[in-house]
Amino acid sequence: MKTLFEKVNVGGNELSNRMVMAPMTRNRADENGDPNDLMAEYYKQRSSFGLLITEGTAPAHVGKAYPGIPGIYTESQIAGWKKVTQAVHESGGRIFLQLMHSGRISHTKITGLDPISASAVKPAGELFTGTGMDPFETPKEMSLQDIADTKAAFVTAAKNAIAAGFDGVELHGANGYLLHQFIASNSNVRTDEYGGSVENRCKFVIEVLVAVVEAIGADKTAIRISPNGTFNDVAETAIEETYTYLLKAINGMGLAFLHVSNQFGFESIPFARKLYSGCIVANSGYADKTKVETAKQIIASEQADLFSFGRLALANPDLPKRLSQGIELNSGDSKTFYSRGPVGYTDYPVAP
Ligand SMILES: Cc1cc2nc3c(=O)[nH]c(=O)nc-3n(C[C@H](O)[C@H](O)[C@H](O)COP(=O)(O)O)c2cc1C
Repeated sequence: MKTLFEKVNVGGNELSNRMVMAPMTRNRADENGDPNDLMAEYYKQRSSFGLLITEGTAPAHVGKAYPGIPGIYTESQIAGWKKVTQAVHESGGRIFLQLMHSGRISHTKITGLDPISASAVKPAGELFTGTGMDPFETPKEMSLQDIADTKAAFVTAAKNAIAAGFDGVELHGANGYLLHQFIASNSNVRTDEYGGSVENRCKFVIEVLVAVVEAIGADKTAIRISPNGTFNDVAETAIEETYTYLLKAINGMGLAFLHVSNQFGFESIPFARKLYSGCIVANSGYADKTKVETAKQIIASEQADLFSFGRLALANPDLPKRLSQGIELNSGDSKTFYSRGPVGYTDYPVAP
């Protein structure tokens, strides 16, 4: 029977266990999006996970979601990330960068630029813009030129990630950010070849994936999806049809992995296993906080090859050791999830 604690090969990397640290935005980057020493320390502390996936990282300035999130589109950001990858590799870990283009989940007060999206559809709600909360803005509908430019930005960002020493990149196709905004039918009301039918709504995601694979190799490329996810005001229709089409299109590309974030109302993990023959990383989804027993059972029943932990990894830098030895777990403090500085970030204790 498979367990969380055994080695596994992912994209040509021999990982020391099947436990993945899920991508988590922590807002600790410098103002210009540069990763810093504090971030290097945070990731290094967690390098006993088989694989780390970084927080969502902007591939272009217009795609920066929140103040304090990092980017991978300037030389100084690449230099900052080098500190992180070096620290993790020196400790024997492996690390992928999550490329998160936020699309309409951004604000002129954050980037100085008009947010862009599949369509000019304003999401409901507000976001933190630096000093307080502001309502979302209506994004600019991306022209065909914007689509080509954004694809190119993803490719450059992926190459930058490899130059910064990452073992690969994960495209964020989940949680209502740009790629998901193209997939979901309430945020994509386009009438051209990028909107309307299932095929058209999946076209941008597939094109970005193909372009990134061409640039850095399939074994260094992964994608995260969250079928039926509603975060950031997306609402999907024809979910089974949409993701059947998407998974059939990407199955056989030889990606490092497919990361599936399960959402209530649609059993994504067994669904993906049926349609996708490559490596699958399972995640519980935000609304259904990870239960260790569920993670163990998903690996034992081979519904997925690896399991990613979010909040438990945030609060337990040594989670693989704690779980394998049955050591009590720290609980996380949500007040410091998105704050600044080391408190609630690098000060969670490790087990003796
Ligand atoms: C503080 C925090 C920040 C997050 N940021 C991201 C992110 O940048 N990208 C992403 O794909 N998911 C993000 N997530 C979702 C997690 O990756 C994960 O799917 C979710 O927390 C459910 O797993 P868990 O129950 O183990 O925490 C975030 C979650 C938390 C708690």
